[in-house]
Amino acid sequence: MRALAILGLLLPLQHHLVVGANTFAGSSLYYAAGLRSDERTTLLSGMQSAGMKVLRVWLDGQSYTQKGTDIDPFPDLEPTTICNGVASCYNDTVLERLDDLMIDAHSYGIKVLPPHTRFNALAAGDVYGKEYGTGYFYEQAYPQQAFDARLVHILNHVHTTLGKPWKELNQYIFGFEAENEAMIGKGQEYIQQHQQWQCDRANTIHGQLGDNSGILVMTGGESWLSESVQPDWLSCDALDVISIHAYGAGDLETSAIQPYVEQAQAAGKKLIMEECGTPLSVSARNANLKSFANAITGAELAWLYWEVLPNADPHNGYDYEIGIGDPSWSTLQGLAQEALQAPGAFDFSAYLL
Ligand SMILES: *[C@@H]1O[C@H](CO)[C@@H](O)[C@H](O)[C@H]1NC(C)=O
Repeated sequence: MRALAILGLLLPLQHHLVVGANTFAGSSLYYAAGLRSDERTTLLSGMQSAGMKVLRVWLDGQSYTQKGTDIDPFPDLEPTTICNGVASCYNDTVLERLDDLMIDAHSYGIKVLPPHTRFNALAAGDVYGKEYGTGYFYEQAYPQQAFDARLVHILNHVHTTLGKPWKELNQYIFGFEAENEAMIGKGQEYIQQHQQWQCDRANTIHGQLGDNSGILVMTGGESWLSESVQPDWLSCDALDVISIHAYGAGDLETSAIQPYVEQAQAAGKKLIMEECGTPLSVSARNANLKSFANAITGAELAWLYWEVLPNADPHNGYDYEIGIGDPSWSTLQGLAQEALQAPGAFDFSAYLL
């Protein structure tokens, strides 16, 4: 990669150096562990028809209908107290649900990518948030140790039917990331000042996976491009992928994304547009979908849409979702299929089905 990076300085089209790689698309669904079997079939077969390869799923408990999807409720992994590695303290329901989901997903050519919790869960007062709030969680030794123990618990969860721990399931799991959008509510400066948290967690994950797991260690993104790419993450050995999230029009331009592609290439990391979306009316949305997908694919990046739903989008508030069968679905479907044919700046082929 170093040689490529030096060559890249001499060539204007540095991003074309990965010969033969393609981009791809995927989606997120934070309550996927709660899907009933027919909803799961709708989602996964829809994603497959769009050529989507990765479904990002969450490990936070959900107790009621989300985005018009009537889910099977499930509790938090640590429902009542911080477990700090005591096996009997964790409620593995969410992991067992995802065991089933990943088997189904595999049959549709899709891998799952679980972030372990979201910053919002802290803010909403989960067991960590209750005790440490949204700041001490990232600063004090004990919550970091207990969160590492949670990561170790998850990575060693023995799949209910495959009989192997998650850390060995590279045919089902695309990557692991410590958190979705760690620290975002604290602001960009805080994230810059606490970059080490991310690399420390990545070391824990990588320590469990080992060097040849076939599973990626990823950052989980932040609110926008410049927040999502931090220098200490580019130089963190345990991290394989820097995840970027972007919703703002200014960030969804090839010229805005390109410098981050080059930084990641120079550092020997992969980059992925792990969350992106567009709100507004159907016609505006279809036009926006095309322009942002072209901008991201133009920067030769893979992208995961926020979010594809197994039911019609109820348009709660300022939403980005697209239900399978909604008026914008065929547009998104076509763009995702195009991504599979477009040249990619990073080769993910070894990690996809
Ligand atoms: C885990 O949660 C489920 C669903 O709420 C519950 O039925 C089960 O008893 C819990 N298991 C443990 C070990 O607490």
